Order: sequence, then C-alpha cells, then structure tokens
Amino acid sequence: MEEILNQYETVHPNDATIWFKAGNVEDFPTNRGGCIKYKNKQIAIFNFTRRNEWYACQNACPHKMEMVLARGMTGSADDIPKIACPMHKKTFSLVDGSNLNAEDYKIAIYPVKIIEKEVFIGFTD
Ligand code: FES
Repeated sequence: MEEILNQYETVHPNDATIWFKAGNVEDFPTNRGGCIKYKNKQIAIFNFTRRNEWYACQNACPHKMEMVLARGMTGSADDIPKIACPMHKKTFSLVDGSNLNAEDYKIAIYPVKIIEKEVFIGFTD
C-alpha cells in the first residue's frame, strides 16, 4: 500500500516539466471523472463544467487504496470543488487534495491545461 501511495505527489502548475496529452476534451464526461494512465500512475480527470474548471488527482483512494476516485461524485463544499470516493464517501478537495472530513488522508493533485480542445496533465517526471 505504501508503495502505491508513494507513486503520487502533488504537482504545482509552475513545477510541471512534462505536459502529458491525456486526450481531447470530448473524451471526458462532464461533471464526472475519466481515468488515464501515465507511467505507473492512474490519474482521475474531471471536466467540472458546472464550474467551468478541470481537475486531476490520483485515482487511488488513500483510504483503502482502491482505484476508484474517477468514479466518485463531484460537488462543492463551501465553494471548494471536491470528489467523494464511491466506496465509503470520504471527500477530498480537488484544489489541494486535503480530506474534507478532517481525517488524515490526502490525495495528490495535478495541474490541467486545455489547449485547443486537448487536455494536458502536468507531471515532474
Ligand atoms: S476506499 Fe475510498 S473512502 Fe474507502
């Protein structure tokens, strides 16, 4: 489990050195998640049309390390965009990855860029 968690680390937009093309805008459902693989990482990508924003995070839920966050429900809590894990409903901020249930779980967040209807996710390696 530790090994899987260590694969994921939040990337701040200014730190991204690689912008990986994840697909085209129409490849991703609206207000729900899609999943891509980058190296050994599964990345959940959300086209949050209700907010006109895109987010990306690790697909692994840190609670039980299930690869499920892409299938979670998007929403907002106090205007913070969030994802709720479909398994046990733990919720995470899509801005900083913090757990919104005040528990000691955190997810890695990745920057998203849309350029001419193509979706790019930022990584550092
Ligand atoms: S596996 Fe995600 S909340 Fe339990």
